[in-house]
Amino acid sequence: MNVNISSTAAGGFVSGVKALISGQNKLACVITLGCQQNEADSEKIRAMAVDMGYGLTDSPECADLIVVNTCAIRRHAELKALSIVGNFKAYKKDKPELIVAICGCMAAEPHVAESIKKSYHHVTFTLEPSMLHRFPELVHRSITEHRRTFVFGNEEWDVIEGIGSVRTSSHKAWVSIMYGCNNFCSYCIVPYVRGRERSRNSADVIAECRALIEQGYKEITLLGQNVNSYKSDMTFAELLEAVARIPGDFVLRFMTSHPKDASDELIRVFGQYTGKIAPAFHLPLQSGSDRILKEMNRTYDTAKYLATIDKIRAAVPDAAITTDIIVGFPGETDEDFEATMSILERVRFDMVFSFNYSKREGTRAAKMENQVPEEVKKERMTRLLDVQCEISREKNDAYLGRTVRVIVDSAEQKSGKTVYSARTATNKLVHFGAESNYIGKFIDVKIIRTGAFDMLAEIV
Ligand code: 5AD
Ligand code: SF4
Repeated sequence: MNVNISSTAAGGFVSGVKALISGQNKLACVITLGCQQNEADSEKIRAMAVDMGYGLTDSPECADLIVVNTCAIRRHAELKALSIVGNFKAYKKDKPELIVAICGCMAAEPHVAESIKKSYHHVTFTLEPSMLHRFPELVHRSITEHRRTFVFGNEEWDVIEGIGSVRTSSHKAWVSIMYGCNNFCSYCIVPYVRGRERSRNSADVIAECRALIEQGYKEITLLGQNVNSYKSDMTFAELLEAVARIPGDFVLRFMTSHPKDASDELIRVFGQYTGKIAPAFHLPLQSGSDRILKEMNRTYDTAKYLATIDKIRAAVPDAAITTDIIVGFPGETDEDFEATMSILERVRFDMVFSFNYSKREGTRAAKMENQVPEEVKKERMTRLLDVQCEISREKNDAYLGRTVRVIVDSAEQKSGKTVYSARTATNKLVHFGAESNYIGKFIDVKIIRTGAFDMLAEIV
């Protein structure tokens, strides 16, 4: 169901907190771990905090309300979140009224909520991502009832409209088009922590994009766990086309596509709007072994995957293609891993995001026998990175001497000079030195040096 927050009780909690903290200069600090979806959620948490009367700070030690927006995709991400949360125990001693909240995917895992309840007494509340709109209610409750609350186990997943966003960037915007995932890839915790797929109305997405472009945003990324299964009165390809047709000078990106349903219609739109839609396609392969893909419940095989890559390249020959690979899925043999390596050699991805398989409690793969020893994962990962590094370097070498349009993201002082970081439409990281302020602008630069991970350029 699509619900507008303005017609729910949340508004009452917002004004309630506002009255309670009025005139006290209270500050909120939101710390984000994990993916772009979490970045987008944090922008909403900040907006709700501001609506309730909090100022914003990047320093947790100055804050009266600390929110850690966590990631559960791999064990490593969870440990990082717990270590960050652990640090706040000392703050609470000095500031007993401090509210420490845990949001994000970890907050939806029952065993994590249990362990926080038992061992992290300084945490005031946890709130799973699908119930983010209840954030003002929990802040209100924390202030008025001085009681710890743990909200998880949601089974009614709605699309909530009407929460604003305090965006981190003034030129790049994330726009969620759908939430949740129905795929249950056997290794993945996401469907358990983010619930079932639900799509925003196309009119809401288009209106948000139109407003962003009018405000001067130069890059919009449409976000979803699996954008190709977007379902409303439009298909994802139709929605992408509708956004691409909004007048204005901006770049449109989308992620993530699932290879099982990256449709011909999507690839047609991708090829037809090259002036607007960035020539960059992220298509997670996960493994190059058909046997492992089956065990992963990915529901495509390598032949289908390769056919899709061919179609993407036929539509946009110079598109940058990137992928995700999991190394050491349970039962992965040397032969399976070699199959992955041979696909990397064959497709020659611009970039590979590779992850050692991490056991996630509650998923099917966690119960599989033949878990791969950590040393084997490590060895395979090193080989993969070596080979891919060479491929990425060769891909980037092709940019040498070319003039490309980039969008400028940030600046840093290095040896008394301003060095800018920017991205090409193909999402390659480019550095260049300049005097004037270029942040948030499109400019043309000439590539003068290339490496596997970034490039050096000069303004033309
Ligand atoms: N272990 C390692 N990597 C994982 N991913 C998802 N779940 C796991 C896991 N349990 C990776 C996949 C996915 C990316 C976002 O994270 O490659 O595409
Ligand atoms: Fe996880 Fe698979 Fe859903 Fe992606 S498509 S979020 S890997 S279950």
